[in-house]
Amino acid sequence: MHTDLCDNLGIEFPIFAFTHCRDVVAAVSRAGGFGVLGAVGFSPEQLQIELDWIDEHVGDHPYGVDVVIPGKYEGMGELDPATLADHLRAMVPDGHKQFARRLLADHGVPELPDGDHFGRLLGWTAATAAPQIDVALNHSKVRLIANALGTPPAEVIDEIHQAGRLVAALCGAPDQAVKHKEAGVDIVIAQGTEGGGHTGEVGSLVLWPQVIAAVAPTPVLAAGGIGSGAQIAAALALGAQGVWTGSLWLTVEESDLPPAQKAQLLAAGSRDTVRSRSFTGKPCRMLRNDWTEAWESPENPKPLGMPLQYMVSGEAVARAHAYPEKARQVMFNPVGQVVGQLHEVRKVRDVIMDLVEGYLEATERLARLGQPV
Ligand SMILES: Cc1cc2nc3c(=O)[nH]c(=O)nc-3n(C[C@H](O)[C@H](O)[C@H](O)COP(=O)(O)O)c2cc1C
Repeated sequence: MHTDLCDNLGIEFPIFAFTHCRDVVAAVSRAGGFGVLGAVGFSPEQLQIELDWIDEHVGDHPYGVDVVIPGKYEGMGELDPATLADHLRAMVPDGHKQFARRLLADHGVPELPDGDHFGRLLGWTAATAAPQIDVALNHSKVRLIANALGTPPAEVIDEIHQAGRLVAALCGAPDQAVKHKEAGVDIVIAQGTEGGGHTGEVGSLVLWPQVIAAVAPTPVLAAGGIGSGAQIAAALALGAQGVWTGSLWLTVEESDLPPAQKAQLLAAGSRDTVRSRSFTGKPCRMLRNDWTEAWESPENPKPLGMPLQYMVSGEAVARAHAYPEKARQVMFNPVGQVVGQLHEVRKVRDVIMDLVEGYLEATERLARLGQPV
C-alpha cells in the first residue's frame, strides 16, 4: 500500500481520514494513516487549542488541517469577518427563520437557554479561513492544508508553500481538478457523489480515473465510498496514490459524536442518504430526515445560498447538539452511502488494521487470478 505520497509525507499507509474530532486525528496518524482536522466549525482561538492538543497526542507523526474557501459564495470579496457577518445577516429573510423555528417546535426540540443561534457565520469564507490557516501553519506537525469547495486563492497557496507544507483540494469533476493543478495544488482529492458532506454528481468509479488522467502526474486521492481494504485496492488499481475517507470515522470509539447519533448512523443503510442544500446551501450528502424533506417541499421556502443557509440552519444544529435524542428528525447528519457498511463502534487502530488486511486479501485474490491453474 506504500505509494510515493507516503514517503513525501512520512506516513506508513496512504489512508487519509477527514474528521472534526481531534482524538480521531491523533489516533489515525499514530496508527500509520494521516488524520486531517476539519477546521470549519472552529474559531481561530479554538483551533489553536485543538491543534495544540493534537501536537501533544500525535507523537512524531504528521497530520493535516482542512479549511473551506468556496469558489463561489454570497459576500465573496469581503475580507473582514465581522463586516461580512453583518452584511450577510441582513440578507436572511425572516420567513426562513420562522420556518426553521416552526420545524423545530413541531418536533418538540426545546429552545436553548442561551438564546437563539441564528445568524452564525461558519468558517466557510476566505475571510474566516485565513486566520485558521495562519493558526495551522504555526503548528509544525501540520504537513498539509486541504481546501474544500474550490481552488484555493493564489495567495493562500503561496503562503502554505512558503511555510514548506503541501496543499490539497477536493473536486467532483475533472475540470475542477485541472484548475487545482494549474493553480499549483500538490494533491487533488477526487470525491465521488457517494461521499459524505459536499459532493458532486458523478460516482467514484467513473470520476477517479477521469481526474487521475486529467491531472497526471499530480497525485490523486480517491474519496467517496471507501469503507474497506478491497475498496482501497480498487482505488489504487485505478491509479490513485491513496484514499481520503470521512464517513468511516464518525462511528469510531474515539469520535465525539453523541451516542444517539452514532446509533442512528450504525442503523442506517446506503439508501438512507440524500444530497440536500437544506443545511449549508450547497449540495451536501447527509441522512434523509424531516428537515431535509421539509426544505424540498414546493410550498416551503427554498434553501438560501452558502453561507446564508447555515445562518438559518445553525439554530437546528445547536439545538440538536444540546438535545440529540429529541432532534433526531431535524439534525444535521452528513454521511456518505458507505454508512451502509458501518455496523459497530470500533477503535481507530482496529479500523486501520482491518483496512490494511482487507487490502492485502484483495490484492492476493487478484494475484491468484494471474497464476496458471
Ligand atoms: C460529517 C462530514 C463532514 C464533512 N465536512 C467536510 C469539510 O468541512 N471539509 C471537507 O473538505 N470535506 C468534508 N467532508 C467530506 C470529507 O472530507 C470526505 O471527502 C468524504 O467524507 C469522503 O467520502 P466518504 O464519506 O464516503 O468517506 C465531510 C464529510 C463528512 C462525513
